[in-house]
Amino acid sequence: MSIARIEPHDDFLRVHFTPGESPRHADFHWFWLRHNSELDRHPLTRERIVCSSELPLDPQPRTVRIAEDTQALDIDWGDRADGQVSRYASDWLLTHAYAADRAHAPPPPSDVSTIAVDAARLEEPLGRTVVKTLARTGLLVVRGFGLDTEALIDLIGKEGLSVIGTHFGRIEDLRTDNTTNQNTDQLGYTDSAIQLHTDQPFLDRPPRYQLLHCQQPAANGGGANAVVDALAAAHYLADLDRPAFELLRSVPVTFHRKQKSFERVLVSPILDFDAPGGFRIRYSYFTLAPHKRPFAEMEAWYRAYNRFARLVRDERHQYRFQLQAGDFLIYDNWRMLHARTAFTGARWLRGVYFDTTA
Ligand SMILES: [Fe+2]
Repeated sequence: MSIARIEPHDDFLRVHFTPGESPRHADFHWFWLRHNSELDRHPLTRERIVCSSELPLDPQPRTVRIAEDTQALDIDWGDRADGQVSRYASDWLLTHAYAADRAHAPPPPSDVSTIAVDAARLEEPLGRTVVKTLARTGLLVVRGFGLDTEALIDLIGKEGLSVIGTHFGRIEDLRTDNTTNQNTDQLGYTDSAIQLHTDQPFLDRPPRYQLLHCQQPAANGGGANAVVDALAAAHYLADLDRPAFELLRSVPVTFHRKQKSFERVLVSPILDFDAPGGFRIRYSYFTLAPHKRPFAEMEAWYRAYNRFARLVRDERHQYRFQLQAGDFLIYDNWRMLHARTAFTGARWLRGVYFDTTA
């Protein structure tokens, strides 16, 4: 069988074989390919002369190409003094294929044009667009709505979503000179960068939706937003690293938030597929309590958590945008992670939580 096409991914190479034949394609981890280089066999005995422990787990090939006769794959790993490339015959790849025709979940989406609309070009009432889009994509950005937050609350309220107050108050004024909220000792009221998180994971029922309504953007591009579809990221992780996914969905962690006049503790897995109402992610590096697990299980949990964190922190997996005055973002806090970059000077966003119950 010949090799028709190759498709490099971060962690593996997908090899497409002759069209119309089976399998159509097979996936091979880069480290598996590196470990199985024919160059690392003794020329007389053909036994392996390199143990996988001597090789990196994330080799970075210099070049990957299909041989001229399409019957093999040539990979230059860039780590040989003699400059030789490793050759993998297509028949050998087929014989040893361990992921033939594997389904592969797509990475979390990042195309802002699919989730941003202009307020002047809506085809149905704004509240309905909000509710329908939230159910489909988990977030919506509306450009040019205007500055009236109460009018926006009314429009969203018409679709059955009610404002829920929190320990900050009914509306949060996210600005460094906040004078309107209770419990202002939190990162949201500073000009610091805030990496990806969900809001209030320490509550039994975290607020379902958050509206962020821009009144005044920061100058010079600071305070930009990033939002990640954590449900898509969870499926992506499950396909890449099932044990890591299982740890994040089964091992409970503790979230602990203590402020001057507020304290909550909650224990839950990071990825909760059994929560009432469906999937719920709780994810907040700044309120994660010291993790407590049996000694022999601690490393595995940290590896799983860090792998997920690297996945969602990868900017290719994020919706990234800047809100201007009059724009707003609304996202599903049970499904999406959100972040903002640092800024200097003044910036003012109004934050409002909604839920399907009053
Ligand atoms: Fe937040």
